[in-house]
Amino acid sequence: MGETVTNGHKRDDLQEALATALNDINAESGTLMLLDEKKGELFIKTSVSKPGSQPLSETIISQTRVKLDNTSPSGLVVKLNKPLLINDIEGLKKVFPSLTTIANPKRYKSSLLVPVDTPNGPKAVLSFSNRSDNKHFSEHDLNLAVMLAKYFGAALKLERKNLELRTFNNVIQKINATNDLHNIFKTIVSSGKDMVECKNVSIMLIENNNLIVKDSSRKSIIGQSRKLGAGASGWVWKTGEPLLIKRAEDSRKERSFKPLGKPGSFIVVPMSISYESPFAVNVSLKSNATIGVLNFSNKNNMKPFTDEDLDVISNFANLAAVAIEKVKFFLETKRAYLSTVEALAAAIDAKDKSSYTHLKRVVRLSLELADKVGLSEKEKEDLHFAALLHDVGKIGIEESILNKPGKLTAEEYARMKKHVEEGVQILSNAQFLEAATLIVRHHHEQFSGAGYPDGLKGNEIPIGARILSLADSYDAMITNRIYRAGKSIESAKEELKRCAGKQFDPSLVPIFLKIIDANIPAEKKSQI
Ligand SMILES: [Fe+2]
Repeated sequence: MGETVTNGHKRDDLQEALATALNDINAESGTLMLLDEKKGELFIKTSVSKPGSQPLSETIISQTRVKLDNTSPSGLVVKLNKPLLINDIEGLKKVFPSLTTIANPKRYKSSLLVPVDTPNGPKAVLSFSNRSDNKHFSEHDLNLAVMLAKYFGAALKLERKNLELRTFNNVIQKINATNDLHNIFKTIVSSGKDMVECKNVSIMLIENNNLIVKDSSRKSIIGQSRKLGAGASGWVWKTGEPLLIKRAEDSRKERSFKPLGKPGSFIVVPMSISYESPFAVNVSLKSNATIGVLNFSNKNNMKPFTDEDLDVISNFANLAAVAIEKVKFFLETKRAYLSTVEALAAAIDAKDKSSYTHLKRVVRLSLELADKVGLSEKEKEDLHFAALLHDVGKIGIEESILNKPGKLTAEEYARMKKHVEEGVQILSNAQFLEAATLIVRHHHEQFSGAGYPDGLKGNEIPIGARILSLADSYDAMITNRIYRAGKSIESAKEELKRCAGKQFDPSLVPIFLKIIDANIPAEKKSQI
């Protein structure tokens, strides 16, 4: 049993299998041809030869195209879905006079060609040429080849599964890279189209007892709403069963929903989330929730969808459902955090006797400045939390100090300064506030290095803290306190300019001044 060669390429699984089959059947060479469904032609997927026999050249392997008709033995085998044993090429021409493309009789003395049974009919041909012992192939060899073809059918299905897995991985990576639901819908639609090679894909989710089209390859239907129970989509959502309609008329025959106005073959699959975790046992979660459906129609090759397509799409829909729910959960959690933080901030503010509107203005001004200097969404989110919570440490400071009308004594000022570290202490247990806590720690640092608690200088101070310091100081200046009236906007602006490079980041001050001007209501502007 000699080693087989494969034109110098690293062998893949199919080549390995073909090399083994070649030995089993004792042939000199073997070829696996696959159908290119778009072109309706067979091409050489892989070819192996025993040492000493001439392998097919790279050019032949890459350029051979065989039509699915009765002009060549391979085309004929797929067309008739029958194996073919050729021991006399000239004789074969007498049986099939239509044959025009036949192998060189001098080189190919005996050949076996077997259709490979793939899940949706024969789409491949396995062929062996020339017995190593120079004898003709026998009926026994032919039966063995038929058995081997079954193995190749399974291998091809596995290969498709592999491709499916790789596509899934790519989609999952794309989906995981964003928390933007609209981007996720777009990825689902475009990946779905590629996966089963069709023109129309749409995603519908349940909202207020309706199925809403969240995204679609047909832009005109985005946002449309379907009543539950109406049409195929509603039926699939209600039953949780996937639906494959191969011919339009089947939809009326097999199911109880009304005709759909969709042309030809289509697929609708539920997007379901199963809770299989044992941790869900004592929790009142539905064991299976269908959050929406995916619709597919118009195969690129105009043919009906197949059971294999349905299989691929069903798995895909469930993965997509999990991804969507994950992001929704993330967004809801974030909203819940924000309202908790807002409630906490309001409580501190009440103690400090400054107003909650002051805090809201600091948030708004900080975020506007952050936007102007190009901070990322994540940085802005951290700054939002920090702006709300920057004085959380004041909760532990005596009200007599917080609301003291006159100047603080050195001792009182030292106590007051402690609110920063005490705030950090309070926030340190919330992991989602890690970056915000750093901003809170440094919101009293000064650009010159004269601030507290760490005396950081210039760009050592986190950008969020430099922004917050500016917004907070400005708004504190213009806000009325029990013990003093607020400054006018103009004098507050002068103060900011005077302190640029000392207390404040000089590159931020001019941008902030423009924001202040844009925020002054028209009636106030006329007074200035
Ligand atoms: Fe503070």
